[in-house]
Amino acid sequence: MSESFEMIAKTFQGLEEVLAEELTALGANDVAIGRRMVSFSGNKEMLYKANFCLRTAIRILKPIKSFTAKNADEVYEQVKGFPWKDILDENKTFAVDAVVFSDEFRHSKFVSYKVKDAIVDYFRDLNGKRPSVRINKPDVLINIHIAQSHCTLSLDSSGESLHRRGYRQEAVEAPLNEVLAAGMVLMSGWKGECDLIDPMCGSGTIPIEAALIARNIAPGVFRKEFAFEKWVDFDQDLFDSIYNDDSQEREFNHKIYGYDNNPNAHDIAIHNVKAAGVSKDVVLKLQPFQQFEQPKEKSMIIMNPPYGERISTKDLLGLYQMIGERLKHAFCDNDAWILSYREECFDQIGLKPSRKVPLFNGALECEFRKYQIFGGKYKEFKKESNEKQGSHTFRRNKER
Ligand SMILES: C[S@@+](CC[C@H](N)C(=O)[O-])C[C@H]1O[C@@H](n2cnc3c(N)ncnc32)[C@H](O)[C@@H]1O
Repeated sequence: MSESFEMIAKTFQGLEEVLAEELTALGANDVAIGRRMVSFSGNKEMLYKANFCLRTAIRILKPIKSFTAKNADEVYEQVKGFPWKDILDENKTFAVDAVVFSDEFRHSKFVSYKVKDAIVDYFRDLNGKRPSVRINKPDVLINIHIAQSHCTLSLDSSGESLHRRGYRQEAVEAPLNEVLAAGMVLMSGWKGECDLIDPMCGSGTIPIEAALIARNIAPGVFRKEFAFEKWVDFDQDLFDSIYNDDSQEREFNHKIYGYDNNPNAHDIAIHNVKAAGVSKDVVLKLQPFQQFEQPKEKSMIIMNPPYGERISTKDLLGLYQMIGERLKHAFCDNDAWILSYREECFDQIGLKPSRKVPLFNGALECEFRKYQIFGGKYKEFKKESNEKQGSHTFRRNKER
């Protein structure tokens, strides 16, 4: 059993709790929630598993040194004092990523140059040779995080962000980030016990992530590489054993439906679903939500309607009114989760949410709301509206 060390899983604001649950289920120790991150501990196997299995992490960092620094020169000295020869050599390439929240250090680019200089000077002093900097796919990606004067140097074990699963062939104009889509499905509690519907599925991100969750397929199977594969201590056999272990995969006996009214989005979704290998579980259809009918089977809706960056407010409010109307009339006895941005849009739905979860979609502070649509009320409503409709028909007939 290799030694245990601290790790940091980064995520989007609002997904910290789901990520912590994922980590606990994976067997991580010392799981603690922070802002846009969850810290945990484990061994090398846990590091590989975190990268390969977590659905709601963007990257996994391995801290290698913490220190305080009041200015750039102190950062330089502290970084130069680290034994870089254990991690890098002159034949390897590296890059530095800086994340800075500090009154003293305002420019993250400047901090990353200082760190880079310190590493290069460390090697020059050691043997006169230096590793090269390569921005695109370096052998070793170093991360420095500065919160006021507290600095943490880490190795980035993921490389390219983990939301880049590798199955996306094409995207619509506003595709949902894969990590966010997976987080929404996990937050809803859906694990494949009933049908799942995304009536405005765009490029199909929610249906694909849901299919992977339903079958418990690790999102890492699509990735071509993780940064840790280039580390000096990389254990190929250990990683192969994780990669080839499909013992946790499970049966899925329901269906996932993805609809959209845009033919281009529909075609893109078909490509992506195929690339993710989930065509058997995901049924895609070109259909406007206006034509949505009560599903025969117990179902859950998870959807991300347009927020209105490109359509007029009048159309947008009408769209949300229509969503509320369809849910009331054609989704009784089921739950629907909607991610949206504007309060006035939610208002148009005209249903009382049973949960409201703040969730960031990029820079937008969105809300993920749950609506429970009750059949009892629906029947009453139906009866009332039938009666009203009857009287309208009568009146109209009389008017004629
Ligand atoms: C924000 S995008 C969804 C993005 C999607 N989650 C993804 O990851 O690609 C909203 C989608 O709703 C679709 N849409 C808009 N009005 C619709 C309607 N009345 N019926 C069905 N789909 C609609 C648009 O074509 C668009 O693809």
